[in-house]
This record gives sequence, C-alpha cells and structure tokens, in this order.
Amino acid sequence: MSAKIISGTETAKAIREELTVEVAELKDKHNIVPGLVTILVGEDPASQSYVSAKNKTAKALGIHSEQVTLAADTSNEDLLALVEKYNNDDKINGILVQLPLPKHIDEPKILNAINPDKDVDGFHPVNVGRMVVGEKCFLPCTPHGVLELLTRSGVETSGAEVVVVGRSNIVGKPMVNLMLQKRPAGNSTVTVCHTRTKDMAFHTKRADIIIAAAGVPKMITADMVKDGVVVIDVGVNRIGKTESGKAILAGDVDFDGVKEKAAAITPVPGGVGPMTITMLMKNTVQAAKQAAGLI
Ligand code: GUN
Repeated sequence: MSAKIISGTETAKAIREELTVEVAELKDKHNIVPGLVTILVGEDPASQSYVSAKNKTAKALGIHSEQVTLAADTSNEDLLALVEKYNNDDKINGILVQLPLPKHIDEPKILNAINPDKDVDGFHPVNVGRMVVGEKCFLPCTPHGVLELLTRSGVETSGAEVVVVGRSNIVGKPMVNLMLQKRPAGNSTVTVCHTRTKDMAFHTKRADIIIAAAGVPKMITADMVKDGVVVIDVGVNRIGKTESGKAILAGDVDFDGVKEKAAAITPVPGGVGPMTITMLMKNTVQAAKQAAGLI
C-alpha cells in the first residue's frame, strides 16, 4: 500500500483563498485592514526565512504587515518597550515575536508582555489557559494547522488512538490538549511520547494517528508504525545544503519507508509548514474582527 499524500500546500492554498475573500469583505463593509507585526531578534537564517515568509503571505492576502529586525544583543528592556509600543498601536492586531530568542532574553517575560488580544501565536498563558478549558482563544498556529489538515482530509479523530511525539510548548503540549477536547476535531485517546519515554515504538505501533514533533530527523521508521496509520510530520530539520546553498529538509518521519505502510501522510516540505503560516493569517483576521467587536 502507498499512502495518500496529505498536501499542506494545497490545503493552505484553499484556506488562503477563503481568507483573501474575508479580508476584502472586512475592507469593503467595515473599512478594516487587519495588521500584523513580526519581531525578529538576531540573524538566525531559519528564523529570517520564516519571518519573511510570514510577511510575504500577509501582504499577498491584503493584511497590513510590518517587519522589525533587531540586533542579536538587543536588551530585554528595549524588546519589552517595542512590544508595548505595538500593544498600543491600533493599526496592529497581531504581534508575533519569532522564537527562539537569544539566550540573554527572558522569553516568558516577553511573551507574557504581549496583549493576549493581539497574541496571534497563542503563546500567552491566558490563551493557553483558554485553549485548555475549551474557550474561544487564539490557537497556536502549528497545532491549529495540524487540526485543519486532519479535518479537511476527512481523518476521523473521534475515538482514535493518537500518539504525539514531542512535548514542546509550541507544538506537543497544545497538540495533546486539542486532540482530547470534547468536540468533533478531537475526542481522541491521546498518548504523549518524549525523550524519557522508555519504549517509543510500543506506543507508536498502537497509534491510529501519529503526530511527530520531536525535532529529530527521520526518527519514526516503518518498523515503528502499524498498517493504515495516518502520519502528520511536524518536523522541519535542516540535514544539509545543496550545491547552490539551499537547505535540504527532512521531517521527523522516514517518509519513504513509512509511506508504504501508512493510509495517509504529510510530506516535508509541503506538509505542516505552509499550514503554520496560514493559521497565523487566520488568527490575525480573527484578532482584527475581535478588536472591531464583529465576533
Ligand atoms: N518558532 C518556531 N515556530 C514558531 C511559531 O509558531 N511562532 C513563533 N513566534 N516562533 C516560532
């Protein structure tokens, strides 16, 4: 059996088309232009490319987009002051501080300083808490994108054995919470594996759905999965460079081996990556509508 490929590129394109219509309607009917600012500290090449993709996508959808790049030695105080400036800027509905931040920056302090109503990353503890109890909030973009991929490709999550590999604040922990919510795109029986898990294959072999977010290239191999599994690969690992200097990417899943057993699988690139950026746009539009009292 060879798996159905779940294309994040295609799904993201469909959602972006919906958002383009929504942004145009907001402008026509309410004179509202959603605004996003991205803040990058330092010169990490991967972060630079993510941030510029976010700004490019925002502009393409008609979202007002600002990009601030700060020196790697920016102080906590200066970064906090910048966040505060955008908290008070009515043109800006969403504030994104790209992670990881340099080591000297107090990351929780910065994330907690973002107004929760502008926290389009869904990282502020207020939004995390709302997500856990199932209230309206900004969902973190990558787990939100995984949910959309599952539902839009018709994967039944209710009652499914879901194994999440990884326990980061950005993906693993919110993913666990979302999959066990009492609603149609949830209702799963969830297991979470991490670096201290004794026998990972024992768990992954039982899974109907595997969500791999460990940051270890090709760690999920064909012998670790059962026939008919659905695999969502969140990993984006740079494993080398082409002769022209372009990064060679690999997921956390050994795609070539696992696709022979899986019912459906996401590729890397072209899987979860485009969804993350798209859900950021969706959250920014949500923030603009909330700010205007439309929802
Ligand atoms: N770094 C990796 N993923 C993300 C993300 O979703 N948001 C932010 N702000 N930083 C990231």
